[in-house]
Amino acid sequence: MAPKTNSGIVDRSNLIPFSSRLKEGKALAQDVWSIFAAANLPADCINLGQGYMNFAPPEWVTKAAEEALHSVAPNHYSHPRGRIRLREAIKSFYGPQLNRDLDVESEILVTSGANEGQYSVFTAFLEQGDEVIMFEPFFDQYLPSVTFNGGKPVYVPLHPPTDSKIKSSSNEWTLDIAELRRAITPRTKMIIVNTPHNPVGKVFTKQELEAIASLAEEFNLLVMADEVYDCLVFDGKEHVRIANLPGMWDRTVTVGSAGKAFAATGWRIGWLIGPASIIQPTLAASTRIVFCSNSPLQEAAATGLEQAKERKFFENQLSEYAERRKVLCDAFDEIGLKYTLPEGSYFVLLDISEVKFPEDYPFPKSVLGRGRDFRACWFIAVELGVSSIPVSEFYCDEHANIGEAYARFAFCKDVDTLKKAVERLRRLKEYM
Ligand SMILES: Cc1ncc(COP(=O)(O)O)c(C=O)c1O
Repeated sequence: MAPKTNSGIVDRSNLIPFSSRLKEGKALAQDVWSIFAAANLPADCINLGQGYMNFAPPEWVTKAAEEALHSVAPNHYSHPRGRIRLREAIKSFYGPQLNRDLDVESEILVTSGANEGQYSVFTAFLEQGDEVIMFEPFFDQYLPSVTFNGGKPVYVPLHPPTDSKIKSSSNEWTLDIAELRRAITPRTKMIIVNTPHNPVGKVFTKQELEAIASLAEEFNLLVMADEVYDCLVFDGKEHVRIANLPGMWDRTVTVGSAGKAFAATGWRIGWLIGPASIIQPTLAASTRIVFCSNSPLQEAAATGLEQAKERKFFENQLSEYAERRKVLCDAFDEIGLKYTLPEGSYFVLLDISEVKFPEDYPFPKSVLGRGRDFRACWFIAVELGVSSIPVSEFYCDEHANIGEAYARFAFCKDVDTLKKAVERLRRLKEYM
């Protein structure tokens, strides 16, 4: 029976209790993206917070989307594996990089963004209580995706650079392999390896990946290689795919995203590549979760992959991103705050532990009671007009103090916007 209020009136505001599942994985906590959403910040605040572009996808790709919308078949259900044209395009694009003749029927699955693909892998492989290792800081969506599927997240931190120089490389965020080994228990089922890494920008070296691979072999772990930023690796650094290391194909699922590749994060098109033994159970899960992904935009993503090489699209896009990275990082050099130069992805971590702000500043409730970085990022957004994301959100509560020192700035914005942001950020000097 519905509870009665003091006045005897039946309270109908909360008749049906929601699932306790939502109490796990920080699903009920207000997420950082909503707190730092543009609507909560001053109207002219420049958004370097959430990682989406302020420019359109390439015109030749959006034209393909329009054409698909104006024809019949691509407006209807796709095969749950994905439209064959996109699967063929994925095969041609990734096959040579994975040194395999990929089977479009059993080794490729198109998903509704990388997120849904990853969720479906968890659904397909996790038993209640199975442990999933993730490196901190981690992409926050992993956490509820694991817990909703009965998994238990286990955290292994990447250790930040310890010296006091202004510019560190993302490669100085290090993984302690002995610590990783200690985190493995008889319940460990899976390990997530995100390279290039969000939010650190780290591109794992072959040596690091070999060490992870050898533990995966020793303890029979499934490896989720989240490589959604694979087209953004700077300075000629090699992007090593863990699936290519000896013996690793059979236990690795590689994750990709059209959103990152073609500046189209709202399309919700992603893909998984791996052996049939991983893709087939994941297909069974994905089919019952979304049935199939957005059809017309699969055609557009296919066009993107088909034509990328002849148009030198990824080479050109990378040099544009390198210029964007330079605008932001040159400013941090000049301001004199410590930061991490990313070798990959489109994020820069700025050490904000030296940024001072009045403790009695009128902060909203949403940032009070969270890490110091939430207040620092809020202060910078409101006083300087540039938003960023507090990095403690990407850590478990126990290790949140490591993340509290950093704000994440996304440079997936046009150069003019970044230059305007940098002008504003110069005022950080007043608060050091
Ligand atoms: C590391 C990482 N993995 C996965 C995703 C999700 O990608 P998608 O937008 O294709 O779902 C993101 C998006 O920010 C990400 O940063």
